[in-house]
Amino acid sequence: MKPILIINGPNLNMLGRREPGIYGSETLADIKVLCQTKAASLGLEIDFYQSNSEGELITRIQQAAETSSGIIINPAGLGHSSIALMDALLAVSLPAMEVHLSNIYKREEFRHNTYTSRAVKGVISGFGSFGYVMALEVMKRELS
Ligand code: DQA
Repeated sequence: MKPILIINGPNLNMLGRREPGIYGSETLADIKVLCQTKAASLGLEIDFYQSNSEGELITRIQQAAETSSGIIINPAGLGHSSIALMDALLAVSLPAMEVHLSNIYKREEFRHNTYTSRAVKGVISGFGSFGYVMALEVMKRELS
């Protein structure tokens, strides 16, 4: 099996300092370690990636068609706006899941829709970093 691509969108590199009342005090590096530990316990490998650039995220998703067995994406703000990111996920047709740290359905109305959710199996939203752990569990089941 190939690694699972865990791909994070804009501003998630700021976690820990960014609106901690909403996103918590963990950094993205903490979440990477959490994912590595969970993946190892499930017998999965991961590639953990973050970019602030829509184009770089799209290129990495396109590459995943060759390099990855599945995709876990926190598209961050781009989920709400980027048809191109949705199209990239649809183009590679890998098993994919979407994660949000916060409960986007409880927040401003403009966060209630994500284009990317149309290109994934399901969405986990509102459980903080544990959402990534849950997504890895689901991914393991999808791939078994
Ligand atoms: C987020 C939710 C988005 O609405 C927001 O733009 C983010 C983070 C989350 O993980 O809760 O950047 O994806």
